[in-house]
Amino acid sequence: MKRMNRNGKIGIFDSGIGGVTVLREIIKVLPKENYSYYSDSKNNPYGDKTEIEIQQICNKIVRKFREEGCKAVVIACNTASAKAAGYLRKKYPDMLFIAIEPAYKMVYDYAYHKSTLVMATKGTINSEKFNLLLKKYDNHKTFLLPCVGLADRIEQGNKEEIKKYLEENIGKYKNKVENVVLGCTHYPLIQKEIEEVLGQVQFFNGASNLARHLKEVLKEENLLQEEEGNIEFEDSQGLEKKRTRFFEILKGELSNDRD
Ligand code: DGL
Repeated sequence: MKRMNRNGKIGIFDSGIGGVTVLREIIKVLPKENYSYYSDSKNNPYGDKTEIEIQQICNKIVRKFREEGCKAVVIACNTASAKAAGYLRKKYPDMLFIAIEPAYKMVYDYAYHKSTLVMATKGTINSEKFNLLLKKYDNHKTFLLPCVGLADRIEQGNKEEIKKYLEENIGKYKNKVENVVLGCTHYPLIQKEIEEVLGQVQFFNGASNLARHLKEVLKEENLLQEEEGNIEFEDSQGLEKKRTRFFEILKGELSNDRD
């Protein structure tokens, strides 16, 4: 990694505040880093956009992180990872990218024999990257559910709307699934609501594995920072309520209560 400096920030982005569920896991293992979080609410949802559109959007964000001298970029969006991680790695070979993906391998490792529901955006479910993962770790008891419109409802934060959506779309899996893969970084924010509809299930979320992997990579590259860091937040629409909600979630004050 030619141009990276250990005091550089870690850039992290998503199509809104969902990536906070990744950042909070990263901070647990890397509390002494500087973070620059970019909430791209202007382009939310990414889930229904074409590959080219997502690549163009991600390119702009990565350029901004480059200008800020970020030492690593975390793609905290499964859809962006599926559609643009390969493209970004190729375009910026001197940068370090860490990309989230649905935790389907964790099901293979820990709960292979159990029926599984994968919840993700349409973009993720239809992507080549996810289909390769599925083919490799298929437990043959898996239901794929493209949750069109769910990430934007979570982004809006209307509890009633979310509840209605879940009842209409995942209610039919009650008593049918034991594992749920949260294949979009917005979904851990409504884990409790999902459980209210499905009953007790085991959740799989790739964020803590990503966090450990990021730490290992930074260590290998000799890029770990040793002083106290801070967290910067920017929303692409400049929305103050996004900033407030983001920091509330990070502090763990907001488990259910949304704006
Ligand atoms: N948090 C995203 C993901 O992981 C975003 C979904 C969207 O914008 O549609 O896929």
